[in-house]
Amino acid sequence: MTRAAEPALTSAVAAEPVIDPARIPRHVAIIMDGNGRWAKSRGWIRTRGHERGAETVRAITTESVRLGVKRLTLYAFSSENWSRPAHEVEVLMRLLERFLRQELPVLQENGVRLQAIGQLARLPERVRRTLDGTIAATAANTRMVLSLAISYGGRDELVDAARAIAREVAAGTLAADDVDADAFQDRLYAGRCPFGADQVDLVIRTAGELRMSNFLPWQAIYAEFVSAAAFWPEFTVADYHACLADYQRRERRFGGVCAR
Ligand code: FPP
Repeated sequence: MTRAAEPALTSAVAAEPVIDPARIPRHVAIIMDGNGRWAKSRGWIRTRGHERGAETVRAITTESVRLGVKRLTLYAFSSENWSRPAHEVEVLMRLLERFLRQELPVLQENGVRLQAIGQLARLPERVRRTLDGTIAATAANTRMVLSLAISYGGRDELVDAARAIAREVAAGTLAADDVDADAFQDRLYAGRCPFGADQVDLVIRTAGELRMSNFLPWQAIYAEFVSAAAFWPEFTVADYHACLADYQRRERRFGGVCAR
C-alpha cells in the first residue's frame, strides 16, 4: 500500500529572510510603539512594557552594529510624552538612566558612539548628567552612532534651528543668502553626522501603526517606511531582519524615474 505524501513540514515554518549585506541601510530610525499594549495584554501595568522594551533596545542596537548600520535613531521619549501621568514619565526617565549606566560597557565593546537629540534641558538633572557622561565616554567610538531621541519633537527641532539661524542673521554672523539646506542641517540637534548618515534610509514603526508622530521631519523625507506588527517589547531580531528585507525589496528613486 502506498502512503499519502507527507505534508512538507517546512511549509509552516517561516523562512528567515535573506538580507543582502551590501545593501544594509546606513541610517535606521525606529518608532518603538506598543509597550503599553504589550503589558496590558498580559494584565500588567504599562510601565512593565517599557522595562521589557529597554531589553529590546539592547538587542536591536547590538544587531544593528553587527549588520553594519552606521546610525540607529530610536524614539525614546517624545516632547508630547511629557503629558503622560507623572509616574510613567518617572519610570521612563529612570529606565533611561539605568540603560545608560548598564549599557556603557556594551556600547564600548561594540564601538557605539552615543548621541542624544531633543530638548535635553527639560530632562531631570540626574538623567542629563548620566547622558552627558555616556556621550563623552563613547565619543571616540566609530562603528555606529546610537542617536536617542529624548524629549524630541520634529517641529521643535525645526523651530529651534530656524531660531538659531534668525539669531545669527540678526547678529550679522550669517548672511541670509547663505541659508540653505546645509546651513539648516548644521543647526539641527545632531548637527552633521560624523559617519555621513544625516538622512534616514529606513523608518520602522512597531505595533502595526502607520504614523510618523512628529519624528525626524527633516531627516526622513526620502526614508522608506516599514510597519511591523509586533509590539516593541516582543520585536525580535528576526522581525528586524524581515523589516530590512522589506526595505531591500524597495526601489529608491529619490524623485527620479523608475529603473525597471
Ligand atoms: C511607546 O509605547 C514607547 C514609548 C513612549 C517609550 C519607549 C521607551 C522604551 C522602549 C524604553 C526606554 C528607552 C530606552 C532607550 C532605554 P506606548 O507606551 O505608547 O505604547 P502603547 O501605544 O501601546 O500605549
